[in-house]
Amino acid sequence: MNDTEIVRALGVSKRYPGGVLALDHVDLVIERGDRFVLLGPNGAGKSTLVRILCSLSRSDAGECTVCGRDPVRETRELMRAIGVVTQDNDLDPQATAEELLCFQGRLFELTRSGSTDRAQELIDAFDLEEHARKRVTELSGGNKRKLHCALALVHRPKLLFLDEPTVGMDPEVRAHFWDSIRQINREEGTTLVLTTQYLEEAERHADQLALLRNGRVAYRGTVESFVADRGTTDPGRLSLEDGYLAYLSEVNDVAD
Ligand SMILES: Nc1ncnc2c1ncn2[C@@H]1O[C@H](COP(=O)(O)OP(=O)(O)O)[C@@H](O)[C@H]1O
Ligand SMILES: [Mg+2]
Repeated sequence: MNDTEIVRALGVSKRYPGGVLALDHVDLVIERGDRFVLLGPNGAGKSTLVRILCSLSRSDAGECTVCGRDPVRETRELMRAIGVVTQDNDLDPQATAEELLCFQGRLFELTRSGSTDRAQELIDAFDLEEHARKRVTELSGGNKRKLHCALALVHRPKLLFLDEPTVGMDPEVRAHFWDSIRQINREEGTTLVLTTQYLEEAERHADQLALLRNGRVAYRGTVESFVADRGTTDPGRLSLEDGYLAYLSEVNDVAD
């Protein structure tokens, strides 16, 4: 693993009890500072891969290095280096956003004033000022998702995993959300690894992509080259969504 790499997965496979082969020899390298998106149909294995890289799940075979750490043997160290927003985060419904952010800071051993300052920074970054003293139960779905992200960033991770972060956000909240994430990526140099079903946001906010299909990496490259490779001489005219749908129908035809 060289210095520019932040994620390396080699031959990663995972079969769930019951027999589903969710990942089938996945090889993947992600570079520091990338804005990386993992695309693929429902059930392709995106969340499984994210969970394994975050040490929330174990692979059956293969090796991963994330921020220089082995997710199985160095879980603790890895947790200090990454932030994770999964599809099913739970938050204490009675706590306020501000309380949760300060508590998270203390968990990561920030001083009392350090955690208050960081909480305020993230409240500002995610546009949560109006909601900071509301209880989680009173937050809208979109603001809850923003709070999840803010919580994942308290300890200034080098790498942020976002598994379908914008589900349930209205377009305006989503736009603000991406402004905040891009700001963090720029100012704190945080590498982003996201999954999304919204191809227009993948196209706008990611530069690198991997496409998973049936637990395998079907495509790996830049977003730009993926679109350009889909058979047009004028890539500006083809969206990622067009390219993605064309690609899936190509590979589905071959498979049938
Ligand atoms: N905890 C689990 N137990 C059994 N099967 C699972 C579990 N989680 C996911 N799967 C199966 O593994 C495959 C990949 O799922 P997942 O990684 O969630 O895909 P994606 O995030 O791309 O939609 C699917 O067939 C799914 O049904
Ligand atoms: Mg998923």
